[in-house]
Amino acid sequence: MDSHNQLFILLCVSLLLLSGQMGLQVEAGRHHLHHPSRELFIFGDSYVDTGNTPKSQAGSWKQPYGITFPRKPAGRFSDGRVLSDFIAKTLGLRSPIPYKFRKIVPKHYLKYGMNFAYGGTGVFDTSTSGPNMTAQIDSFNQLIQENVYTPSDLSKSIAYVSVSGNDYNFYLATNGSLPGFPSFIASVVKQTTADLIHLQSIGFKRIVVGALQPLGCLPLATAQTSFQSCNSTFNDLVTLHNNLLNQSVTKLNQESNDHNTFTILDLFDGFRTVLNNPSSHNIKERLKPCCFGVSSEYNCGSVDENNVKKYLVCENPESTFFWDRLHPTQAGWNAVYSELEKKDLYKLLY
Ligand SMILES: *[C@@H]1O[C@H](CO)[C@@H](O)[C@H](O)[C@H]1NC(C)=O
Ligand SMILES: *[C@@H]1O[C@H](CO)[C@@H](O)[C@H](O)[C@H]1NC(C)=O
Ligand SMILES: *[C@@H]1O[C@H](CO)[C@@H](O)[C@H](O)[C@H]1NC(C)=O
Ligand SMILES: *[C@@H]1O[C@H](CO)[C@@H](O)[C@H](O)[C@H]1NC(C)=O
Repeated sequence: MDSHNQLFILLCVSLLLLSGQMGLQVEAGRHHLHHPSRELFIFGDSYVDTGNTPKSQAGSWKQPYGITFPRKPAGRFSDGRVLSDFIAKTLGLRSPIPYKFRKIVPKHYLKYGMNFAYGGTGVFDTSTSGPNMTAQIDSFNQLIQENVYTPSDLSKSIAYVSVSGNDYNFYLATNGSLPGFPSFIASVVKQTTADLIHLQSIGFKRIVVGALQPLGCLPLATAQTSFQSCNSTFNDLVTLHNNLLNQSVTKLNQESNDHNTFTILDLFDGFRTVLNNPSSHNIKERLKPCCFGVSSEYNCGSVDENNVKKYLVCENPESTFFWDRLHPTQAGWNAVYSELEKKDLYKLLY
């Protein structure tokens, strides 16, 4: 990103702050104040981005994103809170500040950690100009060089790594060969593994990586069946990804001094459990997204040259699992997260 861009971002951010639009979560954590020194660092993509993607590039800064929380667009790719907000809450922390805002927020916000995630990115370069995983980790490393964070901060902290499929979307868009998929999956998992090792070498003792969610159930994939059924071809590929990731992480732990540095947050299981039994979470709309373009050339948030809306929004995002073509609603995340909590999420993060 060049300095002109950074200046532009800074300007946008200043304006935002003035108009009080930042969706900072202030209420989380009231009940868990007994772990004040622990910090959360987030790396990855739109499933955890809370505002790094610039306004000029992201739908997440447009209406109707953020209508549930914070009731206006604030850079989250949902109607409300996203996965990283829920993880922070479990840890009793304020959702960590987006890297982009680090120089303009009150300094004490930095003690909750930082969020480096950037919508659209992957472990490799994708179509977005956002920093890939390597570059995000390098930004973090730079802050250590600058003593913003110290190695002793890190020994108690948690790194969460979100790899939600942008590499695969980019692969489909640019190559698309189904026979070529398995070897590409192996290379994505290999690069993810290198990123995990990199985080460990920087000093993290707890590193959590998300399993890939069932991509074949995302509205992007189910649109061809009018949102009736998941695409099993894609879900089989996801299973391959997750199995390779499991093998890789198991091996990393065997090779580490402390045998449980690395853990996998099983988002696949979380999504599947909720989608198999949505009514137990008061979800009525299972696969059809809440917000979608009026035709296939438009997305949630699209407007035409006259600023006329080219999307529709459902009435009840709180009973709809998916927000847009790729992302769950806050209610969707809440349901997935509560399933993960049932399966000892707490232990996994501690
Ligand atoms: C990530 O981005 C950096 C900086 O643009 C680039 O040099 C590097 O090759 C990329 N890494 C991968 C694994 O794609
Ligand atoms: C695209 O697919 C072909 C056929 O499977 C494969 O040989 C090639 O390596 C792939 N290219 C990339 C960039 O993944
Ligand atoms: C899944 O999607 C692919 C690509 O659009 C399509 O070729 C395939 O038929 C679909 N498979 C199923 C089981 O729906
Ligand atoms: C890998 O999968 C097995 C079987 O499901 C599971 O018991 C184990 O905890 C997984 N390993 C990791 C690192 O998640």
